[in-house]
Amino acid sequence: MSDSGPAAQGGQQPVDPCVLPLGTQGARDYPFIMIMFGGAGDLARKKLAPTLFRPYRDNLLAHDFRVIGFARTQLNSQAYMAMIKESVIKHCEDPAPEDMLNEFVSHFEFISANFEDDSKYEEVRAAVEKGLPGVSQENLNLLHYLAAPPDSAPVIIDRLKHHGLAQGPGRVRVIMEKPFGGDRASARALNQRVLNAFDENQVFRIDHYLGKETVQNLMFFRFGNNVFEPLWNRNYVDHIQITAAEDIGIETRGNFYEQAGVVRDIIQNHMLQLAAHTAMEPPASFDADAVRDEKFKIYKSFRKVDEEYLRHNMVRGQYGPGRYGEQAVPGYREEANVAKDSVSPTFFAGKFYIDNWRWSGVPFYLRAGKRLNKRITEIYVEFKQPPLKLMGSACQDAPNALHLQIQPEESITLRFNAKQPGVGNIPHPSLLEFNYSKAFQTASYPPYARLLLDCLRGDLTLFARQDGVEAMWSVVDPIIQYWEDNPPANFPNYKAGTWGPEDADELMGRDGRRWRDFA
Ligand code: BG6
Repeated sequence: MSDSGPAAQGGQQPVDPCVLPLGTQGARDYPFIMIMFGGAGDLARKKLAPTLFRPYRDNLLAHDFRVIGFARTQLNSQAYMAMIKESVIKHCEDPAPEDMLNEFVSHFEFISANFEDDSKYEEVRAAVEKGLPGVSQENLNLLHYLAAPPDSAPVIIDRLKHHGLAQGPGRVRVIMEKPFGGDRASARALNQRVLNAFDENQVFRIDHYLGKETVQNLMFFRFGNNVFEPLWNRNYVDHIQITAAEDIGIETRGNFYEQAGVVRDIIQNHMLQLAAHTAMEPPASFDADAVRDEKFKIYKSFRKVDEEYLRHNMVRGQYGPGRYGEQAVPGYREEANVAKDSVSPTFFAGKFYIDNWRWSGVPFYLRAGKRLNKRITEIYVEFKQPPLKLMGSACQDAPNALHLQIQPEESITLRFNAKQPGVGNIPHPSLLEFNYSKAFQTASYPPYARLLLDCLRGDLTLFARQDGVEAMWSVVDPIIQYWEDNPPANFPNYKAGTWGPEDADELMGRDGRRWRDFA
């Protein structure tokens, strides 16, 4: 492979979503070889392989592609194909014809390797040089997907550079999973390492929340309409709540969760991304950098907080045993690979301010947790009350609000007051609802599939940029630090199946507000 400079790698090509709708074109013109580091792990089996199958089945992928699993597991390519086939059958919603599945997995092969083993990178290099029949090296897209444990990233990145796999005659890209680093300093060090091998526009830092249809729709909703944007600011918005509640526990990820906790796992990435999409200014265009510039400004505008503020406005929790109907579930400390006296938080609630012109004084309440009452992710925008209570005090209880539900339903609901029929003057809170699946009669595209296609096409819009990642860490680092310095004495402090610790309700109650009630 020739060693052209990083600038020549230009991962990004302008993509106009209106000219190139994903549904009709996808990435059919992008033959590729994907090296899947950690290719036999959970992420690869549960998400990546089934995800890749979807656009393959929908004829949105080039026919020419190879996926090379690269991991420590002792497997040959035959066994790997069988593993991938089983994963696709297990994790794809719709059944697929046997011959299609067999054809799909025939694109997979496996290299059993330790991530330090130089000779195995030479094998990869030989495979890449061999390329794809009928595809010139210039037209070949090489993707390195780092689905391996985060601590192996530096080793893999260094080896890719050393073996000439970070650059090529064709386009070379690297996809990196969250959490990117464990705090700002480590994220910065990792970024430096990555940028020593790759150009920034070759680096696709993936956050699957950005692949969710409703999250993308937020930009269309805000900037494709003229009705709401004039109200989208401190003059009309009372406060914003973002909830990402999960009913599942940590499942088999005890080791990871003990290290990460909820702030590194969800708040630093998914939740701050949602906040940024909600709060950002209109970008100059839908160009990746224009969008990411605006998001970066939001992260930088998060108010810096001191210990006093943290003590009163950030709540942590850890689930104890509980029930979902008849089913009893263990507490966090009873899960596999979790210390009996663990202080790792599984719940977070906090109040933030974004100190910019638009949002000055508007609280953003963020809440996320495991083993809560139900699975729901929602952005809730509550508007201020009308200036006069001409309709009577009942209107006070039901201010206008927008509910942007991301999952399980994908919907947008506007609450407004209507007159209850009859002789009295009684206001009645009513709903205008838009439901994605009802409106389009189609399920939305799996987030990973959307993002993989974007990566193949070189569209970085829905991927985090270096400065954004570091700025997001700057928002959460003080919280993590303060909590690590002051371990909780009351864990576990909420029962599985509830809505989290009472402190979270008090946080809202002190401001005369309530969390959204999803009962
Ligand atoms: C992952 C977190 O990024 O997102 C998990 O690591 C979490 O802890 C998951 O369960 C939630 O994703 P989703 O799409 O189910 O909301």
